Amino acid sequence: MTRKACVIGWPITHSRSPRIHRYWLKKYGIDGTYSKEAVRPEDLEAFLGSMEANGLAGCNVTVPHKERALELADMADDIAHAIGAANTLWMENGSLHASNTDAFGFLANLDSQAQGWSDGAQTAVVLGAGGAARAVLKGLIDRGFKTVRLLNRTRSRAEALAQRTGAAVRVGDWEERSAALEDCDLLVNTTTLGMTGSAPLEIDLGALPASAVVNDIVYAPLVTPLLSEASERGNVTVDGLGMLLHQAVPGFEKWFGVRPEVTGELRALIVADLETEQ
Ligand code: ATR
Repeated sequence: MTRKACVIGWPITHSRSPRIHRYWLKKYGIDGTYSKEAVRPEDLEAFLGSMEANGLAGCNVTVPHKERALELADMADDIAHAIGAANTLWMENGSLHASNTDAFGFLANLDSQAQGWSDGAQTAVVLGAGGAARAVLKGLIDRGFKTVRLLNRTRSRAEALAQRTGAAVRVGDWEERSAALEDCDLLVNTTTLGMTGSAPLEIDLGALPASAVVNDIVYAPLVTPLLSEASERGNVTVDGLGMLLHQAVPGFEKWFGVRPEVTGELRALIVADLETEQ
């Protein structure tokens, strides 16, 4: 029987998930489909309630449904609760299960592009306090970072996030972002600054240690001005595309029964997609 999965959002036009999952379906010769479904917020509950009746093994969830999907699931794992949002749902014994694979994707991307990045690492600077930052903070704390300096334009959002994340997270002012880089092992940009069509991220990297790793969650462009500047001064840099690819792995395994590999070929396919859109 054909296994079916999809991604749901509103709107849904820009999701890369179909490209990723269809690549794996073909690569592993699986009898399955992966579609894009535009689901209005008012229709979310009904959609999730009839998932099994509609023959779906599960789905990815994107904006604006991630928080509500967690509430509507029958069961959610610790990581989804900790992040406060779900991006991966699946049916199991008639129940709707929820997880969040973004923290896994964030860590797996760094593990594959900057081997040893977290060995002995103590301090990270995270810019931004939106949805992506929640997963990044969870990943860093699970990986043993002692201090995460969290800076966001709207300080109150960073404070709310720090409160739910724990004592390792220290909130600073957005204006202090250049000075906050002192002694840090890792800098992560989770804001939309630097994205095609957005303002650049203005930051002075002068205080950043030469050994620090720099990761941008933005992947369009693949090499953001931040990554380009960091790389010019000798820092190891990691782009954001790998997080998108790796976060898809656990969902595919749940729905289709094969743990897929993030290959260079898959990466090249998505890079080519991004280039044709620019
Ligand atoms: P996501 O869920 O993808 O993280 P988001 O919730 O919209 O997206 O968060 C976007 C992040 O980029 C926020 O941290 C936002 O800062 P605010 O909380 O102050 O809005 C940040 N951001 C967006 N535009 C910005 C700008 N011009 N200057 C500084 N930060 C900006």
